[in-house]
Amino acid sequence: MSTLQLGLIGVGGIATGRHIPAFQTLENVEITAVFDVNQERATRVAKQFQIPHVAKTLENLFEFVDAVVICTPNVYHQEMAVRALEAGKHVLCEKPMAITTVACLEMEAAAKESGAVLQIGYHYRFGKEAQAAKRLIASGEIGDPLVIRAEGLRRRKVPGWGVFTNKSLQGGGCLMDYGCHLLDLALWLNDFPEVEEVYGQTYEKLSRDADQVNEWGVYDPATIDVEDHATAYIRLKNGATMLFETSWAANIRSDKESLSISGTKGGIDVYPLSLNKASNGMLTTSEAQWLDGEGDPGLAQARNFAASCLGHEESLVKASEGRVVTSIIEQIYADTKKT
Ligand SMILES: NC(=O)c1ccc[n+]([C@@H]2O[C@H](COP(=O)([O-])OP(=O)(O)OC[C@H]3O[C@@H](n4cnc5c(N)ncnc54)[C@H](O)[C@@H]3O)[C@@H](O)[C@H]2O)c1
Repeated sequence: MSTLQLGLIGVGGIATGRHIPAFQTLENVEITAVFDVNQERATRVAKQFQIPHVAKTLENLFEFVDAVVICTPNVYHQEMAVRALEAGKHVLCEKPMAITTVACLEMEAAAKESGAVLQIGYHYRFGKEAQAAKRLIASGEIGDPLVIRAEGLRRRKVPGWGVFTNKSLQGGGCLMDYGCHLLDLALWLNDFPEVEEVYGQTYEKLSRDADQVNEWGVYDPATIDVEDHATAYIRLKNGATMLFETSWAANIRSDKESLSISGTKGGIDVYPLSLNKASNGMLTTSEAQWLDGEGDPGLAQARNFAASCLGHEESLVKASEGRVVTSIIEQIYADTKKT
């Protein structure tokens, strides 16, 4: 196979905003079909992007493709992925992998059985800063990790579109939607050390305020049933600990996306990238003048998925790693005390 025939399952925001444009720039990929329960939307998207087939069912979609990208609400990820894998199709599944660890294990088992690729959409790993941080860590610049700080904080950005505020469809709020990226990136940079214990707490007060102030559109404060802020303390078996926080709604001065690792020989800040050292009577902070790599992480992700389906590369985001992220999120929910 030299060209990968690709189909999209669910053609809402992320499919039309990221995946379809990215895959359509690749010479070795042809998007041949789309499927969405909203057939009118599927037809409109197919026309807009000149995709030849609008499938009536999932099985109908499988007739036209070698691989699928799953872009449905989170609760459907597991079922869609298992059905696609059982049909022998490669799968790029949007994050989070699934909403429970058990569901992730079922997806992994289906992938093992079929031998097809199962990649998870943790595209932060493909960013230039993340890639450079990974190279710095691999070359021993920071020694062993001690303290990891991961923060994905938004002051008032509860998604006012789609089903993001609906627990039965998404499984959770800011943790499932945003925090999972930072958790994944922090663990990947540290080669996925085993997790020893997780303490966590979620909050759901600010987004319930009827006097809504929100930068990302309008949602119903009476029906939102997911968390808007979460914290966690994660002890890793390699001796390091992670301080983690994520929010859609928090009374902070400004949004913040940051990830730092303090190690035995040095430290790294990922956004913006710096290498922090203390030696020879100096505290030094090195910043990159230029970073190698693809500027669009969504495009780099698409390229890696296509290459792994075609047997040219290994998938950068393994399903077993997506499962660890979901299991930490599950443990944060389980540890949460009702306030
Ligand atoms: N990687 C990222 O940064 C990122 C960003 C946004 C969304 N996402 C993920 O992408 C997924 C979709 O998010 P979105 O923002 O595109 O949502 P969306 O609501 O815009 O689109 C979802 C689409 O799925 C369709 N759908 C719903 N149930 C379906 C079913 N059973 N079968 C087929 N189609 C179905 C809907 O009709 C809709 O068109 C979610 O898992 C979300 O977490 C990832």
